[in-house]
Amino acid sequence: MKLAVPLEPSKDEPRVAATPDTVAAYIKLGFKVAVQAGAGARSRIPDQQYKDAGATIAKTADLTVKDADIVLRVRRPNVAETAKFKKGALVIAIMEPTDDRAGIEALAKAGVAAFSMEFMPRITRAQSMDVLSSQANLAGYQAVMDAAIEYDRALPMMMTAAGTVSPAKIFVMGAGVAGLQAIATARRLGGVVTATDVRPAAKEQVESLGAKFIAVEDDEFREAETAAGYAKEMSKEYQAKQAELTAAHIAKQDIVITTALIPGRPAPVLITKEMVESMKPGSVIVDLAVERGGNCPLSVAGKVVEHGDVKLVGYANVPGRVAASSSALYARNLKAFVELLVDAEKGALNVDWDDEVIGATLLTRGGRIVHPRLAPAETKAKTKPKPKPKPKAKPAVKAKSAAKGGKS
Ligand code: NAI
Repeated sequence: MKLAVPLEPSKDEPRVAATPDTVAAYIKLGFKVAVQAGAGARSRIPDQQYKDAGATIAKTADLTVKDADIVLRVRRPNVAETAKFKKGALVIAIMEPTDDRAGIEALAKAGVAAFSMEFMPRITRAQSMDVLSSQANLAGYQAVMDAAIEYDRALPMMMTAAGTVSPAKIFVMGAGVAGLQAIATARRLGGVVTATDVRPAAKEQVESLGAKFIAVEDDEFREAETAAGYAKEMSKEYQAKQAELTAAHIAKQDIVITTALIPGRPAPVLITKEMVESMKPGSVIVDLAVERGGNCPLSVAGKVVEHGDVKLVGYANVPGRVAASSSALYARNLKAFVELLVDAEKGALNVDWDDEVIGATLLTRGGRIVHPRLAPAETKAKTKPKPKPKPKAKPAVKAKSAAKGGKS
């Protein structure tokens, strides 16, 4: 069995799909592992460390994936890359399956079995494979770091002989995986933290982290969580009540971090232009939802911009800004998944296509798109297209350099 770890070719993607630890584990399972030269460089992993773990270093992407039974990637490989894969190879990545149908069709056409890690079901058995959680956790942490850098005052309360510095008021909107980590990080840095969400389960979680929960707790709120643990899209009436409640609160905050998402829908708008303009000079908004349309219409993906005296931080690929840490967790998520695909005793691939975890993540097999959420093209053409996220407004701003991905 051969397992391949090509370099991520996009300049916006500094993460890597395997670490020396996971390479060693694959070799124990019976794989020969090929890692492309430089694949780990932007996650601070030199080729030599992969070599020491037992991998061979391949000079090019083509040599890396040649005859591989399993290809591990962070992002979906493009058509040209996929064409080099062995027919029937298992290709595992964050596939963004609903964003680019042509890309998924190309995987089907190439005859590979493509697995989309973000479709991992949120069941206990699959927790160790949950890439959305592992990456959102680090994004929540990094959002506070980015806010602290842009906020040109101290975050914690400081009592000195020269007087007292007030702690920063930090409001986290959306208390899922990223939001809860942002709350915990902001608390560690000494901020006075409040948070909101539309799911009632979030209330106790927020309070257990020592933050104050603020929300419109009506009947709709009590039913806002789906069976899968995600938020539903709220009614216009609820959104109006929520905006009324949060507007006065936002005006008093120093930092607002937004993380609100609804699966398969554009991100909800939680901070309007008027709310931004109500904030104090030097306040900072970090919009972690910027790549899904944004929780604030003034944030711009891949940039830090200013609207009046308020900074809006809209970095893309925030987990990539802490690439070494996010690669380590992502690589472990993939290892847990690959273990499912192998009979370790026989040292051979052994995929149970009826397994719940396999079925939930498998996009293509035998030349076809097989995932139930990706309806065939002919059915799709007849169904109403989903509304696209609103295009990002381009405010009259001073844009600071903010390369996608790696820290600038
Ligand atoms: P997500 O990334 O889809 O959304 C982030 C947060 O935004 C969610 O908490 C959501 O309720 C909130 N939100 C949506 N619309 C909002 C609005 N209008 N105003 C304010 N907040 C809004 O969610 P994420 O972070 O992936 O996780 C959601 C939940 O899933 C977790 O809190 C947890 O309960 C569950 N989960 C379960 C796991 C498991 O069982 N293995 C693993 C990870 C999460």
